[in-house]
Formats: sequence, C-alpha cells, structure tokens
Amino acid sequence: MNPNWIAPSILSANFAKLGEEVDNVLAAGADVVHFDVMDNHFVPNLTIGPLVCEALRKHGVTAPIDVHLMIEPVDRIIPDFAKAGASIITFHPEASVHIDRTLQLIRDNGCKSGLVFNPGTPLHYLEYVMDKLDMILLMSVNPGFGGQSFIPSALDKLRQVRKIIDDSGLNIRLEIDGGVKTDNIRAIKAAGADTFVAGSAIFGQPDYKKVIADMRAELALAG
Ligand code: DX5
Ligand code: ZN
Repeated sequence: MNPNWIAPSILSANFAKLGEEVDNVLAAGADVVHFDVMDNHFVPNLTIGPLVCEALRKHGVTAPIDVHLMIEPVDRIIPDFAKAGASIITFHPEASVHIDRTLQLIRDNGCKSGLVFNPGTPLHYLEYVMDKLDMILLMSVNPGFGGQSFIPSALDKLRQVRKIIDDSGLNIRLEIDGGVKTDNIRAIKAAGADTFVAGSAIFGQPDYKKVIADMRAELALAG
C-alpha cells in the first residue's frame, strides 16, 4: 500500500449506488474506505451501520474499511462492525466511559483500533493508551456533516501528535478528517498526517481519478 493513505469518506457518495461509488473511488486510486457512523445523539446527524458495511463486503470490496464511530455508547456495536468486515474502528473518547476497555475490545475483535479527537478535545486522553492504538484521528471540523471548512488550528494539533507518535516509537497512523482538499493537503501532510479523509473534495467532482492524482501530486511535493 502507499505510505500516504487517501481515504474517501462515503458520507459524500451517492448512497443510491453505494457499491458502484466505492468500486469507482478505489479504482481511481483510493487506499481505504472511510465509513462515517452517526447516531443523531453524539452528533446531530444519522447515517449508516454494520449492515451497510457488510453489504459492501458482500459486494466485493476488499480494501480496508475505516469505521469512524460518532455514536454513544460504542461498545455494544463494536463486535457487530467487526463481523460486518470493518478493518479499523475509531471512536471518540467522550463516547466511552472506559477508553482502555473499548480499545481492547476493538483489538479483541480482530480490528485495528483508534481514538478520534474533536477540534476542542484535549490530547491528554492519549497518555495511558498509546500501546493500544493503531490510529489517531484528528478532526479538522466538528463532526456531523461533510462539506465544512478545515479548521486551521488542526495543523498545530497534528504537529503535536506527530511528535507524540514519533517519540513513542510506536507504529500508529495519524489521520485527519474534515475539509481536506487538493489545495490544503500538502500543508496537512507537512504537519504530520499520513492518512487523509476527503469526502466532498472527491465525491463532489466528476473525475475521482483526477482529484486523487492531484492530491497525490501535492503530497509528493510535501516530501
Ligand atoms: C464529518 C465526517 C467526515 C466527513 C468529511 O463528521 O467525519 O468524514 O465526511 O467530509 P469533508 O471531506 O467533505 O469535510
Ligand atoms: Zn469521518
């Protein structure tokens, strides 16, 4: 796989033909499928659950599925997502009373695990669980909707987390989610991200291959 992962968020795909959309975006060069799960409780929107994840697997999707849980509580649904074919499951620390237990539960179910930080969520949640993380996801918008603008302070937060990961010596991916576009992806990469969620920037264009190629060209310029 590429060192830099481009993860289209299917939140902005055409849900009436989701299998085809996912096939097309993967054929266009995407690395992973970003799967946004919302419950109209933790965030003010309602989306998709394990049935849709399973349907994508049955449709033939073999790429990693990166399940971003914006739901509360999280533990009950984790085994369902694992059975449905999730590869990575991330959740927000505010949504779990027992973060350590939830991270372990994800790994016990055979998935990669990760924590998600809202723009206003402090990083101290990382302190005692670094060894249980495969992914740290920083939100660069407040979660709930696609198509919002990138919050610039996320760049400083990325730099902080990049240092924490590097100092730890652990193999943890650093993902960014919200307002990622061709014109800011280079700066985001330079700040330390290696996994780039993009919803409206990709699905809002007619030619997915061109957007993804343009993003990769920008990433290459970041060195
Ligand atoms: C927002 C979701 C994102 C969203 C990103 O709550 O977690 O994954 O789809 O959409 P864009 O790339 O349009 O900001
Ligand atoms: Zn997301």
